[in-house]
Amino acid sequence: MLCRRLRYFRYRQFRWVLTGIFCSITLLFLIRRDKSPVNEHQNLELVEEDPRYYVNCTGVINGDEESIKLAKLQTLSVIYKKRLVLNEKDYIGMTKHCSNFTRLQRYITFPLSKEEEEFPLAYSIVIHHRIDMFGKLLRLIYAPQNFYCIHVDKKSSPTFLDAVRGIASCFDNVFVASQLENVTYASWSRVQADVNCMKDLLQKNSTWKYLINLCGMDFPLKTNLEMVEKLKALKGANSLETEKTAPHKEKRWKHSFKVVNGKLKDTETNKNAPPIETPMFSGSAYFIVSRRFVEYLLKSPKIQKFIEWEKDTFSPDEHMWATLQRMPDMPGSVPVNNKYDTSDMNSLARLVKWSYLEGDISKGAPYPPCTGVHVRSVCVFGAGDLKWMLQQHHLFANKFDTEVDGIALQCLEEHLRHKAISNLLSYTEA
Ligand SMILES: *[C@@H]1O[C@H](CO)[C@@H](O)[C@H](O)[C@H]1NC(C)=O
Ligand SMILES: *[C@@H]1O[C@H](CO)[C@@H](O)[C@H](O)[C@H]1NC(C)=O
Ligand SMILES: *[C@@H]1O[C@H](CO)[C@@H](O)[C@H](O)[C@H]1NC(C)=O
Ligand SMILES: *[C@@H]1O[C@H](CO)[C@@H](O)[C@H](O)[C@H]1NC(C)=O
Repeated sequence: MLCRRLRYFRYRQFRWVLTGIFCSITLLFLIRRDKSPVNEHQNLELVEEDPRYYVNCTGVINGDEESIKLAKLQTLSVIYKKRLVLNEKDYIGMTKHCSNFTRLQRYITFPLSKEEEEFPLAYSIVIHHRIDMFGKLLRLIYAPQNFYCIHVDKKSSPTFLDAVRGIASCFDNVFVASQLENVTYASWSRVQADVNCMKDLLQKNSTWKYLINLCGMDFPLKTNLEMVEKLKALKGANSLETEKTAPHKEKRWKHSFKVVNGKLKDTETNKNAPPIETPMFSGSAYFIVSRRFVEYLLKSPKIQKFIEWEKDTFSPDEHMWATLQRMPDMPGSVPVNNKYDTSDMNSLARLVKWSYLEGDISKGAPYPPCTGVHVRSVCVFGAGDLKWMLQQHHLFANKFDTEVDGIALQCLEEHLRHKAISNLLSYTEA
């Protein structure tokens, strides 16, 4: 356009020369701009660039009703429903050329700060399907100084495993667990998956400070830097739910259970009392524990004996971690006294909204109603949940699902990534 306009330049004899010079300078300027660090960092933003799917994420994150309503309307359109979702074959293909994969997927491949670099984290991620969700999760929590152990269910399809291996092959600090379990709901195998990753992660590197376990529907609420700051403030303590056991849950470890045809069955036989002095506590499958906690767990004969005892219980993940967190010899644990009971809301590990507790906070409810849908009483978050969630202290929230509400994840990704790199941007622009 500009170049064509210049054709009407009055001094005819110079016009071609001048046009040429002007256009070359513009071109040079554009090329230079493209290589400037500011631009490189701008390319790390996770903003949806396709105008067909425009969502005002600033509005959504601010809880602006109009933006949320417009975003919701958009998700009902055919064009949105047919949007491209990366599948297993896509990931297998893309990860054949790692530098293109990490660049196109906008991975952050350098530590964003010295503070983060000096405080590496370890992750144990237990998944079985939905490579699109795993791709989004890893991209959002990835930092080159951290370590990521991925446990893929033995039952998962070979292509799913190949896709995860493909992604892992692009990073030195991401790997598939050396031992894979056939994970049965509510059985010991779920805990064993995390234990396998614990062993691998201890071997992998001696620098990481804390271990966080995740499943495929967890997403972060904090940037890596914010996580590091919160974990440093724990000063070696662990952070997980651990409360008095409700009487109706005692059967879970008073009876012996076993897997029959892929389902966990009550054998109706009584188990011995747990081989520890500490009472049994209850909590969730998700924890944030120090490296020393993991080391002690794997080497203490007394703890190993307790772990053996746990193996034929129902949902050991929901009482083993909670009980370990109250044992005096476990590093970073808290005393048995009920003053130290820690609810899910008070621990950093996981934000979950249970349908039967949702309500009006001003009338005593712990959280506002779910704006997504419920699956087994747990809220699958909607875009309208984000504002309140981002004000909580938890590092991660469960559950997200792009098939339930793609906007919630899109805006969460955009928001967290922008926050993570905004310091860089102001630094390079200055
Ligand atoms: C997005 O929503 C916010 C309200 O939170 C509004 O101020 C802003 O102008 C909106 N942006 C666009 C591009 O519509
Ligand atoms: C990698 O990306 C570059 C630049 O976009 C492209 O030219 C090249 O063909 C890609 N390589 C592969 C193997 O896809
Ligand atoms: C641990 O990781 C750091 C950073 O990636 C690396 O420099 C160091 O060599 C690793 N140590 C071991 C024992 O692998
Ligand atoms: C996993 O367990 C299920 C149910 O017991 C069984 O059908 C399946 O064959 C097992 N798969 C593997 C790979 O061991």
